[in-house]
Amino acid sequence: MTRVQQIMNDRCIQCHAAKPTYPGFASAPAGIALETPADILANPALIKQVTANKYMPLGNVTKMTDEEREFIAIWTP
Ligand code: HEC
Repeated sequence: MTRVQQIMNDRCIQCHAAKPTYPGFASAPAGIALETPADILANPALIKQVTANKYMPLGNVTKMTDEEREFIAIWTP
């Protein structure tokens, strides 16, 4: 598993999955799942944008670190 996948697993898929585990979510918000490499490679620019401007994770409920945000920022998909 790549580092980016690991970060998505730790910080994003609670909500961004076909069947989210986060309370109150019935399906992937904004239609964006981040569970598989294909899911992640479908939206690299958006992933970079929303993690750089701290819009995601929503309210940072999953406690993404600045180091992880940095990694996503310099990641080459
Ligand atoms: C607590 C649940 C939750 C978590 C955790 C979460 N998201 Fe989201 N995400 C949402 C919701 C809800 C929306 C829809 C918000 C909206 O449309 O304004 C959203 C929307 C998005 C969008 C679409 C934004 C757009 O402009 O269309 C992207 C991309 C995204 N999230 C990426 C991520 C990434 C990457 C992570 C992990 C670093 C993450 N999200 C973690 C709930 C979450």
